[in-house]
Amino acid sequence: MLKKKDKYVIAVVGATGAVGNEMVSVLEERNFPMEKLRLFASERSEGKTLNFHDKTVTVEILTEKVFDGIDIALFSAGAERSLHYAPFAARAGCIVVDNSSAWRMDPGVPLVVPEVNPHDLKWHKGIIANPNCSTIQMVVVLKPIHDAAKIKRVVVTTFQAVSGTGKKAMDELLHQTADFLNFKELKAVVYPHQIAFNCLPHIDKFMDDGYTKEEIKMVNETQKIMGDPSIRVSPTTVRVPVFRGHSEALNIETEKKLTANEVRSLLSTAPGIIVYDAPEKNVYPLPTICAGRDEVYAGRIREDNTVENGINMWISADNLRKGAATNAVQIAEVLIKMA
Ligand code: A2P
Repeated sequence: MLKKKDKYVIAVVGATGAVGNEMVSVLEERNFPMEKLRLFASERSEGKTLNFHDKTVTVEILTEKVFDGIDIALFSAGAERSLHYAPFAARAGCIVVDNSSAWRMDPGVPLVVPEVNPHDLKWHKGIIANPNCSTIQMVVVLKPIHDAAKIKRVVVTTFQAVSGTGKKAMDELLHQTADFLNFKELKAVVYPHQIAFNCLPHIDKFMDDGYTKEEIKMVNETQKIMGDPSIRVSPTTVRVPVFRGHSEALNIETEKKLTANEVRSLLSTAPGIIVYDAPEKNVYPLPTICAGRDEVYAGRIREDNTVENGINMWISADNLRKGAATNAVQIAEVLIKMA
């Protein structure tokens, strides 16, 4: 457990990556009570620096021995690194908030979205998992609806930005777009097909049943975070040529009837949500609107007349912020409140 202090030593592991960089910005913006910030990445980044407030922080090479004296480490360096290094951190008394998929479904590791299940932070044993970006934004809006009307089933289709794959994928979209506009041949390295001017119904590996790992994550993680294995989730995940901001079309079936207005009112008082829903004025969530923001935007809220109790909606959130960095920093904030 974390000892109460005025200021904490915080580390970002994978600080040179897309999410790691965002973690540093979010820590700065939210004025996290920090004695010292330490940044870690691979040997490739040795000597690189990042700005934090008005100081320059040098990136250090990650090893098994670096965790002594660090209170909380935010990990975003891939699942392999998390599996290997998080136990060394936990043994050194450093609490890990891990953004990878490595520990999420481990029954001994809480999987937390602070708006939904902050109580699960009480039973951590040194490692806490940050959920998948698509799951985070979905459960933030599902929670108030579940509390009011008990969700039976959710059908979700995602429209996911390339930044979710990392920096290399952002570069690939940029280069392919430039090459396409210059009539050059496109190179696809990160994705199996061209991503520029395209949509790929393929995120992470395909499993034997035809679903992708990303889709399975949305099912299992939703049930774990909501603490209710009876919620059925039917997902299709799609990568789209957007740099930043995931969107999702949600169809939600509940036990109790909710009108569209009741859903708007529930969501507008729930934490972390902005109801952005005036279609007659072209007001609905967009990746460009949620970029740089920490809230989940919800709009196009309407009743589904093809089932007894159904709601359709469209949500967007910044996948690097609420879908990753902000959620991790919010977990650290709850930990220091609980200390
Ligand atoms: P590096 O930049 O030194 O390769 P992204 O998901 O945006 O690609 O970022 C991945 C992050 O994980 C980067 O900060 C990357 O550092 C870091 N990383 C990758 N491999 C290792 C490793 N073996 N040890 C430490 N950090 C790693």
